[in-house]
Amino acid sequence: MSRRGTMQMTKLLVGQTRQRLFSTATSKNVSSGTKFAPNVSGQRFTNHGILGSAPIFEGRYWSTVASEVSREGKTVQPPKVEYSGEDDHQGGGKTVAISSYWGVAPRKISKEDGSPWRWNSFRPWETYTADTSIDVKKHHKADTFMDKFAYWTVQTLKYPTYLFFQRRHICHAMLLETVAAVPGMVGGMLLHAKSLRRFEHSGGWIKALLEEAENERMHLMTFLELSQPQWYERALVFAVQGVFFNAYFVAYVVSPKLAHRIVGYLEEEAVNSYTEFLIDLEKGLVENQPAPAIAIDYWRLPPDATLKDVVTVIRADEAHHRDLNHFASDIQCQGHELKEYPAPIGYH
Ligand SMILES: [Fe+2]
Ligand SMILES: [Fe+2]
Repeated sequence: MSRRGTMQMTKLLVGQTRQRLFSTATSKNVSSGTKFAPNVSGQRFTNHGILGSAPIFEGRYWSTVASEVSREGKTVQPPKVEYSGEDDHQGGGKTVAISSYWGVAPRKISKEDGSPWRWNSFRPWETYTADTSIDVKKHHKADTFMDKFAYWTVQTLKYPTYLFFQRRHICHAMLLETVAAVPGMVGGMLLHAKSLRRFEHSGGWIKALLEEAENERMHLMTFLELSQPQWYERALVFAVQGVFFNAYFVAYVVSPKLAHRIVGYLEEEAVNSYTEFLIDLEKGLVENQPAPAIAIDYWRLPPDATLKDVVTVIRADEAHHRDLNHFASDIQCQGHELKEYPAPIGYH
């Protein structure tokens, strides 16, 4: 390659990389519809890249849709299909409409009563009725050194949070759910990588752990309808997630049975803290307000359900997570691998 060619290529790569890594221009341009935006609004693509001399890279890097210029050089208009969706966090208050070439928008979904399904992040077939008959007092007795280490790790972490939140149960629950949704995702991700690396089945444990993570995240989405985090709470979550995600990742790599045991004890404490929440609701120390709509749909609760019903089903979820994680640890403590025992998928 000539020196001039090398210079042009370097200029092109630096320009593209800088824009991708350090600029917010890409996302802003998508909404403002300038010449670098993907063709989400159906306007014509420009045939010139960011440097004016890179039509190929421009199409590759800036577009999420096919170029409208065919190989024969003819202009091909992509079919313009209008989609609309509702912002599910706003409970259907905001409608977003786009047009796209790809045709991947989900079909319209209705509830059993024929009314439109308002949540984009979960579907009717992912909802369930919580099994509230589960024993919420079960406890794994810590006999071995590993169990005692896991138990006292959780006890040590528990007291500062109780001191910090005291009777502010909704804030306490909301912030703890941001932590609780991490282990399932980290464990599921690591088992996924292990399955690929070793060319072997997982026994369903990847799915079971990812389901747990999603279920925890739905707890968070529910509490978000009742309370919005302050800036310092967001900062706290940011810092705690940075530490906890990495610490749990390392723990799971070093000793998955210890990692699952720690989560088992964390879930026991989650059950206890929701029991305290319920006691304060019954005493009238916390207002038993109507259940958020997202909770009514997710747990198939009656329309007149209250916060107490929501806390009851969330506590049942935590008890199921407790059992799943202690079971996962028991399997490995008894010298077996998780994949040897079918995972409790859909265990709610
Ligand atoms: Fe939770
Ligand atoms: Fe949990």
